[in-house]
Amino acid sequence: MQKTLLITGGAGFIGSHVVRLFLKKYPKYKIVNLDKLTYAGNLENLSDVEDYNNYVFERGDIVDKKCVQSLFKKYNFDGVIHLAAESHVDRSISNPMEFIMTNVVGTLNLLNVSKENWGNFEGKLFYHVSTDEVYGSLGPEGLFTESTPYDPQSPYSSSKASSDHFVRAYGNTYGLPFIISNCSNNYGPNQFPEKLLPLFINNIINNKELPVYGDGLYTRDWLYVVDHARAIDLIFHEGKNTETYNIGGFNEWTNIDLIRLMCRQMDEVLGNDNGHAEQLITYVKDRPGHDKRYAIDATKLKNDLGWSPSLQFEEGLYKTIQWYMNNQKWMDNVTSGDYQNYYLQQYG
Ligand code: NAD
Ligand code: TYD
Repeated sequence: MQKTLLITGGAGFIGSHVVRLFLKKYPKYKIVNLDKLTYAGNLENLSDVEDYNNYVFERGDIVDKKCVQSLFKKYNFDGVIHLAAESHVDRSISNPMEFIMTNVVGTLNLLNVSKENWGNFEGKLFYHVSTDEVYGSLGPEGLFTESTPYDPQSPYSSSKASSDHFVRAYGNTYGLPFIISNCSNNYGPNQFPEKLLPLFINNIINNKELPVYGDGLYTRDWLYVVDHARAIDLIFHEGKNTETYNIGGFNEWTNIDLIRLMCRQMDEVLGNDNGHAEQLITYVKDRPGHDKRYAIDATKLKNDLGWSPSLQFEEGLYKTIQWYMNNQKWMDNVTSGDYQNYYLQQYG
């Protein structure tokens, strides 16, 4: 079957893996990637597929109604997979307004233009990609399920929660067909090196300190980015209208345990003595309002759609380290602009 899809944020970390998967798996689809190319967006992430004849890149801002409207007129989209966002919690603490603009106003703009252009909505779908951070912070026990009440704690998660609510409101009020997925922390190739794993890999390569926030006992649930892209593909094609799906690999780590594992793997890859990288660990002032623990229950996705992650964590982490080691030019290019380590600049 032929389809024309709008993927927003396709030049970013997760978006680039989603665009690649769709281009390769669905040669009959036309994939239009709309991306503003902020500091986090990089066309190099898609250099291996940019010549595919079913791929189009459009540079633009999801907040710009004229731009989004003209793309809908030009391509007559059958569906939207919406990933464009400001995505880093530390940046949201320094500059929340940018998060409201892109994550809330931008999403609302896409919803409006979809509603205006999609007639009776037959065969259309608005797929909104969201985060588990909308559920807030867990204590030592329990997991986030699809019915966990929203309780966002950071400006980032508040903006994502708001956008999720607007997507549901457009379904409820206007009948816009939609699906939302909420995923745990992703890791893998092409992640901008201000997020924990690529930042620390890069710092170890350059023999720089590893800034661990607070006591390092915060817990995150990690999923390999290609497994997230596989889940998005499955949910987009087989998920049910108006449903929410949590995505996660049942893979919780405290930050410090994860960092120690990464240090051991880096020592091995770099041919250093065991314990070398760990010496770079430096405890720094905590992130304000730091969420203690995230953990996803992805049972619904497994039972309803048969999804499970393809990689064990140790293997995925090793693959990720190898990718950054083999792509240091990518690292140099993405960090060469006006990029600064936001957190350390503000609070370090
Ligand atoms: P990212 O920051 O790597 O990429 C975001 C992309 O959106 C970039 O290419 C950027 O240029 C683009 N963009 C930003 N503002 C834009 C605008 N106004 N108009 C058009 N394009 C714009 O983010 P990511 O980590 O790939 O996350 C993608 C999505 O997945 C986000 O919606 C995020 O909330 C969600 N998510 C991320 C994670 C994670 O661990 N990274 C986990 C769950 C959900
Ligand atoms: P991050 O990658 O920013 O993702 P999120 O805050 O969305 O979960 O951070 C992951 C965890 O690592 C989080 O608990 C904050 C912590 N962290 C550090 O300790 N030091 C750092 O330099 C960074 C970027 C994060």
